[in-house]
Amino acid sequence: MKTAYLKFDGEKTVSHINKEIYGHFSEHLGRCIYNGIFVGKDSPIPNTDGVRNDVIDALKEIEIPVLRWPGGCFADEYHWHDGVGKNRRPILNTNWGGVVEDNSFGTNEFLNLCEKLGCEPYLAGNMGSGTVSELASWLEYITYDGNSPYALERKANGRERSWKLKYLGIGNENWGCGGNMRPETYADEYRRYETFAKNYSTPDMVKIACGPNADDYNWTETIMQNLKSWHTGAISLHYYTLPTGDWSKKGSALTFDDNEYYKTISSTMYMDEIITKHGEIMNKYDPEGKIKLIVDEWGCWYDVEEGTNPGFLYQQNTMRDAIVAAINLNIFNNHSDKVIMANLAQVMNVLQSVLLSDGERLVKTPTWQIFKMYLPHHDAELVKTSFAAPDLEKADKTIPMITYSLSKKNGEFFLTASNCSLDEDCTMLIDPEQGEINNVTAQIVNAEIHSYNGFDNNTPVSISDYNGFEIKEDKLRVTLPAHSVTAFKFKL
Ligand code: AHR
Repeated sequence: MKTAYLKFDGEKTVSHINKEIYGHFSEHLGRCIYNGIFVGKDSPIPNTDGVRNDVIDALKEIEIPVLRWPGGCFADEYHWHDGVGKNRRPILNTNWGGVVEDNSFGTNEFLNLCEKLGCEPYLAGNMGSGTVSELASWLEYITYDGNSPYALERKANGRERSWKLKYLGIGNENWGCGGNMRPETYADEYRRYETFAKNYSTPDMVKIACGPNADDYNWTETIMQNLKSWHTGAISLHYYTLPTGDWSKKGSALTFDDNEYYKTISSTMYMDEIITKHGEIMNKYDPEGKIKLIVDEWGCWYDVEEGTNPGFLYQQNTMRDAIVAAINLNIFNNHSDKVIMANLAQVMNVLQSVLLSDGERLVKTPTWQIFKMYLPHHDAELVKTSFAAPDLEKADKTIPMITYSLSKKNGEFFLTASNCSLDEDCTMLIDPEQGEINNVTAQIVNAEIHSYNGFDNNTPVSISDYNGFEIKEDKLRVTLPAHSVTAFKFKL
C-alpha cells in the first residue's frame, strides 16, 4: 500500500480559517430561488414566509456562514427597486432560460432569509446595466436607520430596523456577462461606484472588486495596479471544474469513465495553482496582504441533465462531487491567509448543489455531506505541516493522490483528507513533533464513485463513523480508502 507522511507541530499555526470559506451562492437561475429555496407562502410545501422549512433546516445543519445573491450574471441586469413593496415589476431573466420572474423574492425576502439562517448576506451589485445611484439607493434602503426617502420606503414595506450588510460585490464577471469590460475600464468604474457605495449600518463592509476568470493573470495585475489603495477589501475569483475542459461538451454528471473521472480531479487541482499565482501578483502590489481573495464561484459544471431546461443548469451530484468538494475545501483552508471566503455554485438545484429538490422531496447531496463533515474547520486555526505523498499518473497528468488540511480549535485537532485513487488505499502516518496523539475519532464518506443520493430515500453517500486508524509509537496511522474523504479529530 502507498504511504503518505504528515508532520506537524501542534503549537504552530499559520492562519485563521474564516468560516466564510464554507459559503454558498444563490442566483436567480433555474430552480435555485423560485421552485427551489422559495416556493411562496401559498405552497403546500411547508414554508416560512415562502421559504421551504426543510431547506432552512438543511442549511442550518451545515451552519451556512454566508449567502451570495442575486447573481451571477443575473446581478448585472437586476434592478432592486422592482423587487420590493406591494407592486412588483416582473423581470425577464435573459441569461437563464429566458423566463419572466414575478420578483416576489427580492431584497426583503433575501435579507430576512439570511437572518433566519444566521448567515451573512453578500450582495452582488449591478454595475453592468445599472447606475451608481441605483447601487447607492439600494444601500440606503438596506442600511439607513433615519428618515431618508429609501429608509422610509423600507419601513413602509414592513422592516423598521436596517439590516447589516458585511459584503458587497461591485458587479460580477465584468470581463464577460457583466459588461465585457477591459480591466482598465472596470477599475475606473469600480472607483466611481465604490465612492458612492455608502453603508450606514455596517461601516466595516468589505467591498469586493470583480477579479479574474480562472487563470487570467493580466486581469489581476491590472486590477491590483489600479485598485491597490482604493477601498478594496477583496477581489473575487471564479473557477469551475469541467471534466473535459470543453465548454461545448463538458461531460455528464452521472456517466463518466475512469479517464474522465481523473480529468475532473486534475481540473479541480488546478484551483491550487491559480490561487497561488493570483496571490503572488496580489502580494507584489499589496505586500501587507490587506486585499484578500474571495472564490465566489466554484464547483463542477457538467452538461445539464437530459430533459431539463438547458438554461437551468440542473445536474446530479455523485461521490465524485464529494471528492471534488473535499479537494477544493482543503485547498481553500491551506490558502486561508489569502482566501477569506468561497461560495459554492450553487446552493440548490443548480450546478454542484448541496440540495436538490423534486416537488416536495429534498435530497442532501454528497457535496452537502462534505460541508457537514468539515464543520470543525469553521473559524479554526490552520496548523503548520510538512507533507509527502505519492502522485498518480492518470489521464496524461500527474495528480496528487491525497489532499488534506489540518486545523486546531479549542485544544482539539481536526484533519480532513481525500484519496482520489479509484482503486488504491493509502496509509497516512501522522507524526506530531511534540506530544502524543490521543482521543481519536473518525468519520468517512466513501461509496462507489457514480453513487448519488436519490429522492427515494436511498442515500448511499453519507457520513459514517470510521475505525481505520491505530496509534503506534506516538504516531497516528490511518488508512485512507480509495475514493474516500475522511476526517479525524484528536488531541495531544
Ligand atoms: O453560476 C453560473 C454562472 O457562472 C454565473 O451566473 C456566472 O457568474 C458564471 O459564469
